[in-house]
Amino acid sequence: MNTSKKILVTGGAGYIGSHTVVELISAGFEPVIVDNLSASDTTLLEGIEKITGKKPNFHKGDCRDKSFLNQVFKTQGPIQCVMHFAASKAVGESVEKPLEYHQNNLGSLMTVLDAMRENQVTDFIFSSSCTVYGQPDTIPVTESAPFKRAESPYGATKQICERILEDVYPTGFRIVSLRYFNPIGAHPSALMGELPIGIPNNLVPYVTQTAAGVRKKLTVFGNDYNTPDGSCVRDFIHVVDLALVHVKALEYLLRDKHNRLYDVFNVGTGKGVSVLELVNTFIRTTGVKLPFVIGPRRPGDIEKVYADPSRANEALNWQAKYSLEDALKHAWAWEQKIRKAG
Ligand code: NAD
Ligand code: UFG
Repeated sequence: MNTSKKILVTGGAGYIGSHTVVELISAGFEPVIVDNLSASDTTLLEGIEKITGKKPNFHKGDCRDKSFLNQVFKTQGPIQCVMHFAASKAVGESVEKPLEYHQNNLGSLMTVLDAMRENQVTDFIFSSSCTVYGQPDTIPVTESAPFKRAESPYGATKQICERILEDVYPTGFRIVSLRYFNPIGAHPSALMGELPIGIPNNLVPYVTQTAAGVRKKLTVFGNDYNTPDGSCVRDFIHVVDLALVHVKALEYLLRDKHNRLYDVFNVGTGKGVSVLELVNTFIRTTGVKLPFVIGPRRPGDIEKVYADPSRANEALNWQAKYSLEDALKHAWAWEQKIRKAG
């Protein structure tokens, strides 16, 4: 029986992966990080060390390089489970570079699965996204909602990845796909958080950079949607809650004795929050000025989506604990920390 505590975390130098590494360590696991640093640097690895007092077991390399992965599997000894975060994730960039997105996101997934098979590792947790649903017909959205045509090549890669996982699991894999809603916030210690490259596309990093004076003003993309205040509605989930669901999914796999398994969970709070509500909550909780204007709709945006997380609540025994206020306070503390560090 594989009793190893080692968990291979691909993309562990990135935003969600690094927060998960911290929670894995505090739950008694031994993460082995693989990352090519294509969308990150060593900042968050340093954060992991400061928070946990443990030097991360880090291997720089590409998930599409099977001989590199084989070497990690061989030198690290038995691996209990692979958590696969490594992927390219910028929706806008994926429209400019569709081939690169398919190559990286599908190539990484297939090479990692292939290396797992060669090294007799069966358990796998995948970072999926609520983008697989498109604009669902019914909200809150459940896992059984059909996939609509993906709005972007990035969204398409997540749909195709899930299909690959569904196809391969009968050959001897035990897989959980986690469909994240909108991850926000930072570690409460302010030692780790989101590090967007260049001008942020996502709402919260844009909010905190504007509040810090790096950007002149925030543009709220549209106030004429069919929502209570006209702005889009999302399910914003604190990154530490998201990290914790990975530990729960791992425990779920460890509890389950089936030789083959494929399960999918929505990971959200279950609460819809509008963009304007988030902006006003940020201003109220931090007391910081946030200049903003209303602009036109952003092409490709979904009007409203939020999760029905009851499957994850029940089967994984997991619930989002942090509030929107907490997430925004933590994101702001992290932003101030980065600015101080220069
Ligand atoms: P991130 O960019 O911060 O982290 C991804 C990490 O993977 C980076 O450190 C990058 O260097 C690494 N990487 C990319 N390609 C690689 C490769 N071929 N080999 C090795 N390393 C590679 O992104 P994140 O926000 O932490 O996202 C993690 C996962 O969650 C991704 O799969 C993403 O698609 C998914 N996801 C993210 C969000 C979000 O809004 N952040 C939402 C839903 C799903
Ligand atoms: N928004 C603004 N102004 C900005 C940035 C965003 O008004 O400057 C609005 C958007 O129009 C949208 C909402 O804030 O209505 C959220 O936008 P984000 O870009 O933060 O997030 P998305 O919902 O578009 O998508 C994100 C990630 C995807 C991921 C998805 C679901 O970018 O990778 O969440 O998890 F798949």
